[in-house]
Amino acid sequence: MNTRVEKAINDQIKKEASSSQFYLAMASWSENNGLNGTAKFLYAQSDEERFHMLKLVKFVNERGGRAIIPSIEQPPIEFDNLTKIFELLLEHEIMVTESINELVDICLQEKDYSTHNFVQWYVSEQLEEEASARSILDKLKLIDGDKGGMYMFDRDLEKATVLATPPADGGAQKA
Ligand code: FEO
Repeated sequence: MNTRVEKAINDQIKKEASSSQFYLAMASWSENNGLNGTAKFLYAQSDEERFHMLKLVKFVNERGGRAIIPSIEQPPIEFDNLTKIFELLLEHEIMVTESINELVDICLQEKDYSTHNFVQWYVSEQLEEEASARSILDKLKLIDGDKGGMYMFDRDLEKATVLATPPADGGAQKA
C-alpha cells in the first residue's frame, strides 16, 4: 500500500476513535443529566464513529498495510449544556470533514484511485453528519431553554436514534 496514503488513513483512524470517545463522554453526561433520549442518540453516534474507525482499520489491513490502533486523549467530563454539546459536536465534525478532504487530496496526488473511491463513502457520511448537527442546533435555538420544548426535543432525538444506528453486520458489505 502507498505509504503516504497508509499514514493518512492511520491518522484518520485516530480521529474516528477520538470522535467515538468524545461522543461517548457527551452521551454519559446527558444520561447523568436526565436527558435519556439525547444520551441514546449520542451513544449511537459514538458507536457509528467506532464503526467508521473499524472500516478504515480493515481496509488498511486488507490492502497489505498495517493499521495502527491509537491511544486516545481523555475527553471532557463536564459540559455546560446541551447547546454547547452540539456546538462542540458540529465543530468536531467540521474538523473531521477537513481531514477527510485532505485524505482525498493525498489519494489523488498519489494516484491511488481505489482508496480514493473507498474514501468517497466518508465524504458523503460527513455531509450527512454535519447536516444532522446543524439541524439539531437549529432546533435547540428555537427551543431557547424552554422546559417543555426540551422534553419534546429529547423525546424526538430518541426516535431519530433508530436511523443513526449502523447495520447489524457493521456495514461490512459496503466496505
Ligand atoms: Fe466519522 Fe463523524 O466522523
